[in-house]
Amino acid sequence: MISKDAKIGVVGAGTMGTGIAQVAATQGHQVYLYDAYPHQLEKSREGLESILARQVEKERMTQEEIDGILNRIEFVDNITSFGECGFVIEAIVEDLEVKKDAFARLEGIVSKDCILASNTSSLSVAAISAALKKPERFLGVHFFNPAPLMKLVEIIPGIATDNQVFDKTKAFIKGWDKITVSGKDTPGFIVNRVARPFYGEALRIYEEGIADAPTIDWAMKEIGGFRMGPFELMDLIGHDVNYEVTSTVFEAFYYDPRFKPSFAQKRMVEAGWLGRKSGRGFYDYREGAKNPSP
Ligand code: NAI
Repeated sequence: MISKDAKIGVVGAGTMGTGIAQVAATQGHQVYLYDAYPHQLEKSREGLESILARQVEKERMTQEEIDGILNRIEFVDNITSFGECGFVIEAIVEDLEVKKDAFARLEGIVSKDCILASNTSSLSVAAISAALKKPERFLGVHFFNPAPLMKLVEIIPGIATDNQVFDKTKAFIKGWDKITVSGKDTPGFIVNRVARPFYGEALRIYEEGIADAPTIDWAMKEIGGFRMGPFELMDLIGHDVNYEVTSTVFEAFYYDPRFKPSFAQKRMVEAGWLGRKSGRGFYDYREGAKNPSP
């Protein structure tokens, strides 16, 4: 069992890393949240403060509770303190070589019993673990966005993952009030594989001029019963992340046309229209926008 008072290390203070740090700190853990870019650490801290302040305004949390959460998260610009951690999760850019490099560096710092996890959406757990001298302590722990709200977490053992590491991690994450599901180490695991046609067909309908993004989103919500439409969801996830995941799954399935990425989405990534996080995606999130956010 990973102890209740284990310190948690999070690598990457973007959308997911910040959310996972919030979850761990809410559960009472001391958290080190590291990012290679200082401006991202600042952005993460400000974002978290404003999300938590809203919880107080809505009387869902007390000021004391949010002060506790914020005090338990230390925003760090290096990983030296990760030697104290019992569990470290990585949530950096979805790029195999960058992730492998991060894990090779982490392994030189963490204690021998520390469990290492990646929040990857689509990369092979086995391929990331190849960077490690002790790949048996590594597995995929895939949270969904936004991590504090989404109950489901996929726990994906790689070919080399020790059974005990898998069992301990599953029990630990369940203890964070999450529901876990496990599947084999295959491209997109369960949810992202099922989700590919949801985004892919929506993008094809859009590219073929059959309907525009708000109409497709409206239909999927009103008629399909989905909480968010595919374009709203891609704007939330980030087009860079979503496009990268689709490309990885496409390649990993030997270019099966079912998973073919979209040119429209590629152009948006190239233009820096990444969705909510950059202010512009299929909808416009900037102040005074003509095509406002839904
Ligand atoms: P993001 O782009 O919001 O954040 C990534 C962060 O990593 C940035 O702050 C960046 O500065 C930092 N970073 C990049 N390289 C680094 C390095 N070498 N060392 C330390 N920090 C580094 O990305 P996001 O959306 O948080 O995704 C992170 C991971 O989580 C990816 O693997 C993605 O596939 C996965 N994921 C994303 C979801 C989403 O909805 N956005 C959902 C579930 C998983």
